[in-house]
Amino acid sequence: MKFKNLFHEYVPVIAIDGPTASGKGTVARLVASHFGFHLLDSGALYRLAGLAAKQHQIDKNNVSALVSLINNLNFFCAGGCVQLNGVDVSTSIRHESVGRMASAIAVHAPVRSALLSRQYAFRKPPGLVADGRDMGTVIFTDAVLKIFLTASAEDRAQRRYKQLIQKGFPAKIEKILCDLIERDSSDSNRTSAPLKPALDARLLDTSMLSIGEAVNRIVVWYQKIESHTSVVKVNFD
Ligand code: DC
Repeated sequence: MKFKNLFHEYVPVIAIDGPTASGKGTVARLVASHFGFHLLDSGALYRLAGLAAKQHQIDKNNVSALVSLINNLNFFCAGGCVQLNGVDVSTSIRHESVGRMASAIAVHAPVRSALLSRQYAFRKPPGLVADGRDMGTVIFTDAVLKIFLTASAEDRAQRRYKQLIQKGFPAKIEKILCDLIERDSSDSNRTSAPLKPALDARLLDTSMLSIGEAVNRIVVWYQKIESHTSVVKVNFD
């Protein structure tokens, strides 16, 4: 008998959700690196789909074309590098217009379903830190630790402004704030997997915390959970 087929290795997930520019990308990367875990930037997958849709001039509401596009999406996403069809798009997917497209196509349930298996594929030993909008509520509901990062819209706009300027993109703070409020509203009010904290999520307001302090809090929370978890960790499915 092959026990390997019966017992899957337990792969812990730390889910970090929150609105745009809440700092979750940086925090998730640092937490993953601290524990040597894999990292899923689910927003990058939605952005890749948004960018590909723009390249193919697919309308944001043409759901069947979007699903077929996603099913054939040829991408690579690891170690901070994002490629679409072998071309490095790490910088271009961060453009505000791509973010808006990502948010617009993300309202469609079939689009979200088409991205499910792509996201599950990131869950590999020794563990995963998953960052997005619905990591704790929909994708990894069995995550051992769920965090909901928040910060005021003004603080987030300031952060996004600095990021864009650093990357050499033109940016206006008022426009960023308007876009961000619009995107928050679209992400939070959609019917399919809206942005909201999981019932068992811990809220972490980053307005008054440095990135290092936020990371440290999550690291300590996870270590406490791990030390209380029983020795046998097996998924039966
Ligand atoms: O995290 P981000 O700003 O890179 O995400 C871009 C958009 O993708 C976001 O506005 C909504 C969508 N998204 C989503 O609907 N669900 C996720 N898990 C991640 C992102």
